[in-house]
Amino acid sequence: MTGTIGILTGGGDCPGLNAAIRAVVRSGIKQGYIVIGIRNGWLGLIENDTVPLTDRSVSGIVSRGGTILGTSRTDPVAYPEGVTKIRRVMESQGIASLVVIGGDGTLGAAHEISSLGIPLVCIPKTIDNDIFGTDRSIGFDTAVSIVTEALDRLHTTAESHHRIMVVEVMGRSAGWIALAAGMAGGADAILVPEVRVSMDRLCHSLKARYEAGKQFSIVVVAEGTRHEDITGTIVPVCDRDECGHEKFVGIGNVLGKELETRLGIETRVTVLGHVQRGGSPTAFDRILATHLGLAATDRIYNGEFGCMVGIQGNRIVSVPLESIVHKPKEIDPGDYIRAGIAAGWTDGSDK
Ligand code: F6P
Repeated sequence: MTGTIGILTGGGDCPGLNAAIRAVVRSGIKQGYIVIGIRNGWLGLIENDTVPLTDRSVSGIVSRGGTILGTSRTDPVAYPEGVTKIRRVMESQGIASLVVIGGDGTLGAAHEISSLGIPLVCIPKTIDNDIFGTDRSIGFDTAVSIVTEALDRLHTTAESHHRIMVVEVMGRSAGWIALAAGMAGGADAILVPEVRVSMDRLCHSLKARYEAGKQFSIVVVAEGTRHEDITGTIVPVCDRDECGHEKFVGIGNVLGKELETRLGIETRVTVLGHVQRGGSPTAFDRILATHLGLAATDRIYNGEFGCMVGIQGNRIVSVPLESIVHKPKEIDPGDYIRAGIAAGWTDGSDK
């Protein structure tokens, strides 16, 4: 089966998206397809904002961060007449199937749209790495490298000034970045949404470091770590973004203040924010994105729709969308303990 494939990127951007687009375009053209780029996620499909993609238009983008197609967090199901408009645009452009590159929100919408009979294949991306059904999502490896480099840099200045450095990283509902970068960057404590750690416990462990003669500490905290889990005080969610996601209270600053007050040690806070999503993808992300892009085109060629391509073990697989959407993928508690043992923050007995 050949025809026209439409491709879009939705949700937050990340490094590696362009490598995936390039792979879909190049392999699609080889298999006889025309590939049309849809601008700004689902919004472009609703508003008929498209661009033809050729071998030439994806030349030189494998190393480029962001997405040449642009992105948005538009939910096509909540959009007035969104699905009807999508059908109309697909028909007018002759688009027979879609490649949808996105995170949990985009994949959730893709699942609904797919169940209404629109043929599509999804590719997982998010630096948060919290998509079920794949060990890794595009962008995660790059974010971990960026945070690791930041931790290396913060180590030297923390040591010179005998300070505590609190580093807030992304991770809404899962602490994958905090855990991986914390382990790679030798963090002295790692706080994630999945594990409750009391302030007393954290202070005790940092104090023990100082008593042992180590006059600085690096504490990594994922943005989605609950305020009440650390301080015991519940802070109401102050705001939500346009998609209804919680806007976080800034746990890094809360924690920094609390540590300084309780321990009397000078503390500084670094919020890495969108730096983690910017710039060039690592080699791993480029390779993963390329494999997933090629696999997505193959699935379309074979008429296998309503699925997401992903990586499990060292194999590229495809999984039905209904088996992965709205299922949070949390960190492995064993890995959390292992990171703690390596950092000296636990002896493993408090499992
Ligand atoms: O979902 C990925 C993510 O990077 C989260 O970790 C983060 O909370 C969010 O996106 C930030 O989104 P925005 O680009 O809308 O600020």
